[in-house]
Parts: sequence; structure tokens; C-alpha cells
Amino acid sequence: MSQRSCLSVILAAGEGTRMKSAMPKVLHAIAGLPMVAHVVKAAEAAGATGLALVIGHGADEMRKAVQKFAPKAETFVQEKRLGTAHAVLAAREAIAKGYDDILVMFGDTPLIDAAALAAARQKLAEGAAVAVIGFRPPNPTGYGRLIEKGGRLVAIREEKDCSEAEKKIGFCNAGMMAVAGNQALRLLDKVGNNNAKGEFYLTDIVEIAGAEGLDVVATEASFESALGINNRAELAEAEGIWQTRRRREAMLAGVTLIAPETVYFSHDTEIGADTIVEPNVWFGPGVKIASGAKIHAFSHIEGATVASYCDVGPFARLRPGADLRQRAKVGNFCEVKQATIEEGAKVNHLTYIGDARVGAGANIGAGTITCNYDGFSKFFTDIGEGAFVGSNSALVAPITIGKGGYIASGSVITESVPDDALAFGRARQKTLPGKGKELRERFASAAAAKKRAAE
Ligand code: UD1
Ligand code: CA
Repeated sequence: MSQRSCLSVILAAGEGTRMKSAMPKVLHAIAGLPMVAHVVKAAEAAGATGLALVIGHGADEMRKAVQKFAPKAETFVQEKRLGTAHAVLAAREAIAKGYDDILVMFGDTPLIDAAALAAARQKLAEGAAVAVIGFRPPNPTGYGRLIEKGGRLVAIREEKDCSEAEKKIGFCNAGMMAVAGNQALRLLDKVGNNNAKGEFYLTDIVEIAGAEGLDVVATEASFESALGINNRAELAEAEGIWQTRRRREAMLAGVTLIAPETVYFSHDTEIGADTIVEPNVWFGPGVKIASGAKIHAFSHIEGATVASYCDVGPFARLRPGADLRQRAKVGNFCEVKQATIEEGAKVNHLTYIGDARVGAGANIGAGTITCNYDGFSKFFTDIGEGAFVGSNSALVAPITIGKGGYIASGSVITESVPDDALAFGRARQKTLPGKGKELRERFASAAAAKKRAAE
């Protein structure tokens, strides 16, 4: 099958009014990726070499988005929504290029798995003209029913056109199908709109092909993989299913998730074996975690790279560009952005490190802040190997702390510190013997005088 060429035609011209959104429905994300991008990924995994997206509502926004996740896809605008067959024909030009297989898919069915698509393509390789992907939903109401006779698929009947007997059929049309490339346009051009909705139904090609004596079959996919998204409750349901699958995949690949149902992955999270993830951790896009790391509870991580044996959290925030090298530690209530924390360095408590390098083995005390922004531009802080920054220090960038430099607690450092130097950036302490007691007595008598005056 691998040498057969394949065009995936993805229908996404629907308005998606039930999402109640200014954004086209299929751009709503699952695991941080637009649902139509999940569909594209599945098509590619099933061997699609060409991609044609049929769009309507929000065409400009769609084109821009598609450019990001499927730069090679061609887009076609379906001006009027006259039905699924009409929508496929909007991509006539792409289909006419002559592919072996045409895979028709829906942009709002994000959990479709590549195996179900490949199974339908396999039927074409074995000689079928049309292979429809069927499924058995718990409640078939609203779906097209697959009407089979003697192991062959003879028709798909939309709910509105079904007889009472046909409505009892549980095997339904998931909506997606594979059609032989050399038959597709001819069959689609024969579709009429003489039905309850007055639409051109893609599903009619089943009867048309059957009448010509062509081989038409149904394959079966899981209910989940055919789940269509129409509103935000279904979007959340799909997110839940996706997360459950991904958590399981991570655990089977050697990652410990103590409370898997509380850990959220992004579509592109990479995480190595023997890493332990405590409860309530969020991975945004662009995260790479090596093996043997510990991600403690309530950490929020995106766009970050975490090397082996690092220790992160609890309550750590790693933002884009955070790059933790082996055995680095970023502890509670610390935020790291666009900064490298080199091998074995420690940023343990209540700290902000942004636009910086923290050298190997350096120790950053509690409450340290890199002051990287003056309201207009960002500046870099370079902290050398083995440096020690005392608690509650402000490092005003641009600034360099040399190797082994030592910053006294509570400093505001505005000038670079050479290697092995000690820097104080604070007022010297004054201690006045007996003055504390004197002050307390003065305040007490003043308060008493005030009280008497009020009586
Ligand atoms: C369709 C199937 C039905 C199946 C169900 C599965 C047909 C005629 N019916 O019904 O058998 O059980 O899906 O969910 O195919 N679209 C366009 N342009 C159009 C019409 C539709 O792009 O003119 C797109 C929609 O955006 C959507 C997809 O095609 O992504 C399906 O259309 P929809 O109207 O939702 O079809 P259903 O009535 O659900
Ligand atoms: Ca639908």
C-alpha cells in the first residue's frame, strides 16, 4: 500500500455556530494544537502525500493557521455550504491531479486514528472503489446508518431519510471514507440533492458505486476516534480522551505519574523514562524533559528544556527559553524565562531569573531577582560558575557576576562583579544600644496622652 499515492480532503467549511466563538470551530485546540491539525497529523500518519483543506467560514484566519501546521496543504473555499459531496468537489482541482486514494475526512473529528484511515485505504488496495469508516456510537440518533447486504455496503441513509426499521441499525457512518482516485470525481458528479435536507450528500456515492457494480465496503473504527466536536463540552470531552491516551503512553514509556488524571500534556511534550511527575503539573507547548528528572507538584512548564536528574518545583514556573542542564534545581515559587541554569546550579526559592545564564554550581539565594527590563528593553545577566548570590538581592541587568563571585544578602547590584570578588550593595547596618527601649517608651506615652485627651 505504501507506494500508493493519497490525497486527504479535509472538510472544514462548517460555521460551527454551536461553539459560540469568533474563531472558526476547527481552530479550537486540543492539547494546544488546533483540532484540524490533529486531523492533518492523522492523515499524514496514514500515508497522505497531498492535503486539500476545504474551508468557508473565516477563510483568511484558516489560511493563516494552516500555514503553520500544514504549509504544504492547498486550501479551497466552498462558497456555499450545499452538502458534504459539494464540499469535496470544492477540491476538484486537487483530486484531478490523479491520486490512487482519496481520503475524505472531517476537520472537526480530531481523535481519528491513523490505523482506521490506513484500514480503509487497505480496502482500496484490495480492489474496493469506496471504503466507508463505520462505528457504533452508544446512541446512533443523528448519524447516517450503514445499510449492509451480504457483507457489502449498499447504502448510507441519513437519519432524516431513514425508515423506522433503518433507524434501529446501530452501525453508523463516522463520516470519513476512502475513495479510489480514478473513480472519485465521476462518482461525486453523479450525486444529486433529492433528499430531506436538499443537500448534496457524500454518502450517496455508496449507492451510486454499488449500482455500477463497483465494490463498496465498510470498516469499523472505535467510537472515540469518530467523535465529532460541535460545542465546547464536546471539545473538553475530546481533550479528556486525548489526555488519557497520552498519559497512558507516557507511563508505558517509563514515566511515573503519581496522579495521572491531574497531569496535562501538550501535543508535543517529550518526556524521558524514569522521570517522576507529581500531581497537578501542566505542560504547555514546546517542553522537552530528559530522563530521571523530578517534576514536583503544581509546576507550570512551557517552552522549556529540562535535562536529566533536574529537580523542578513544587510550584515552579518554567517559561519559554528556560534551559535547565543536568542536575539543576529550580525550587518553589521560582520563575525562569529565557535563561540557562547550568549543571548543578540551584535556584531554590522565590526567585525570578529572566534573560540570564546561571553558571554551573552557582547558588541563587531566596528572593533573588534579575531586573531584566526597564520598561522598554530586555537586558542580560551573566552569573559565573560557582557564584553565590545572597538572599533578597536585585541584579540590575545588564550585569556580570564573575566566577566564584559572592553577593551579600539584600544587595542591589548595579555594577559588574569580578571573579571571586565580594560585593555589598546595601546601606551599612547601624546598631544603637538601649535606643530600642527608649523608642518604645516614647511611643507608649504618646499613645496614652492621646487616649486621655479623647476622654
Ligand atoms: C455527516 C454524514 C453522516 C455521518 C456524520 C458523522 C453526510 C451527508 N452525512 O453528517 O452520515 O453519520 O457526518 O458525524 O456526509 N461540511 C462542509 N461543507 C458542507 C457540509 C459539510 O465543509 O457543505 C463539513 C462540515 O464542516 C463538517 C463535515 O463536513 O466538518 C460534516 O458535515 P455535517 O453537516 O456536520 O454532517 P452531518 O450532518 O453531521
Ligand atoms: Ca456533524
